[in-house]
Amino acid sequence: MNGLFISFEGIDGAGKSTHIAALAQAFEAQGRVVTVTREPGGTRLAEALRAMVLNDPMDPLTESLLVFAARRDHICRVIAPALAQGQVVVCDRFSDATFAYQGAGRAFDWDVLRTLERWVQATEALGLEPYADAEAVLQPNLTLWFDLPAAVAAQRLAGARVPDKFESQPSAFFEKVSSGYARRMQEHPLRFARINADQSAEGVWQEALAAVRAKGFLP
Ligand code: TYD
Repeated sequence: MNGLFISFEGIDGAGKSTHIAALAQAFEAQGRVVTVTREPGGTRLAEALRAMVLNDPMDPLTESLLVFAARRDHICRVIAPALAQGQVVVCDRFSDATFAYQGAGRAFDWDVLRTLERWVQATEALGLEPYADAEAVLQPNLTLWFDLPAAVAAQRLAGARVPDKFESQPSAFFEKVSSGYARRMQEHPLRFARINADQSAEGVWQEALAAVRAKGFLP
């Protein structure tokens, strides 16, 4: 069986978590082995980098280098081996988040991010087949972008917990992040599915499931 790589994206407060667990269960019910993981994170090193990225102030290049370093370790140790074994990898964020948060949100150079992406995600060096819409750069087979207005996300996050460095950003920041996701979707139209996350959890789940089925990944 071929490996399958699905990422979840969206601004903070978009409500990815419950649907990530539900999608993993849907694949397991089909007899698939599923690895659920997240970025930044997924390995000991990458989780350590995550703590720095989410808590320490730093300039956008430092931040970009750290998230890509975390990603490299995560790909080498977790994602590529799981895909090579034919597993389903469900990942809470991947490199689209870097373009959205560091690129659009923090106004860091998009082309530098693309260069880093090509280095970090080169499929040939990872021993993986090139993926459909990418130039030998590892990308998810499907990216579910949970899109909702920044103001709605802010309401959902209010009082939920102690906010980290990104969660405490104003709505204007998340409007930029959303525009970054929109730009990525334009650049990668085949693998992106935009989900209306401004509706009931059940409605969101039905849309997400429909997008996975439309790709033929679930019956
Ligand atoms: P998130 O995925 O929302 O996890 P949780 O639900 O535990 O808060 O948190 C990850 C944060 O990291 C989020 O604010 C986005 C940010 N991030 C980046 O800035 N760049 C990246 O490349 C990635 C993967 C995440």
